[in-house]
Amino acid sequence: MSEAKRLAGEKAVDYVEDGMIVGVGTGSTVAFFIDALARIKHRIAGAVSSSEQSTQRLRGHGIEVIDLNNAGPLSLYVDGADECDPHKRLIKGGGAALTREKIIAQASEKFVCIIDPAKRVDVLGKFPLPIEVIPMARSLVARAIVAQTGGQPVWREGVNTDNGNWVLDVHGLAIVDPVAMERELNQIPGVVSVGLFAQRPADVVIVGGEPPMVL
Ligand code: 5RP
Repeated sequence: MSEAKRLAGEKAVDYVEDGMIVGVGTGSTVAFFIDALARIKHRIAGAVSSSEQSTQRLRGHGIEVIDLNNAGPLSLYVDGADECDPHKRLIKGGGAALTREKIIAQASEKFVCIIDPAKRVDVLGKFPLPIEVIPMARSLVARAIVAQTGGQPVWREGVNTDNGNWVLDVHGLAIVDPVAMERELNQIPGVVSVGLFAQRPADVVIVGGEPPMVL
């Protein structure tokens, strides 16, 4: 599986153009992208990072990390996913970086998602849906999720996001209308962000393989 992730990550470099500030996601697939990006780092202006983890790896390669506020709109965002449906709608947040990932995806003209083949599904929801919450709202949000979706929220105990918040993973969902569910869950007070990337899906999906498949 990590070979498929490597092939997807390396293929995504084809989308990088000279002088770009590149939006960079988080996770093991993205780590391969960052390593490949390092080989052409002289061609880019820098990167906007979605997590402390990716920031460390980027800086380790000598790639400048730029604050999104100073970067303006981005041309390209490259990130992984936990699940991807046929409409390029995603579940993300397995690495607890969903909020910053969603911000950068929204700021970017093109979102290239890099996955291994196991991430492809017909209906999202087998992977527990991550939701970042303000700590004091954890129980309130969990009760609302049960009432609204019938799913079972489980607190990812011991995990603090880069924003100082907590994560609930919602099990037992079959998400037939991801846009509506994203909108509804976003309304619950205390929800910081929902790991559904449906209102703003990926534009391009690269499935790692020999050769990689571009959807
Ligand atoms: C982090 C994410 C990751 O993109 C997602 O978890 C996939 O990770 P990996 O590439 O390690 O399988 O959303 O919050």
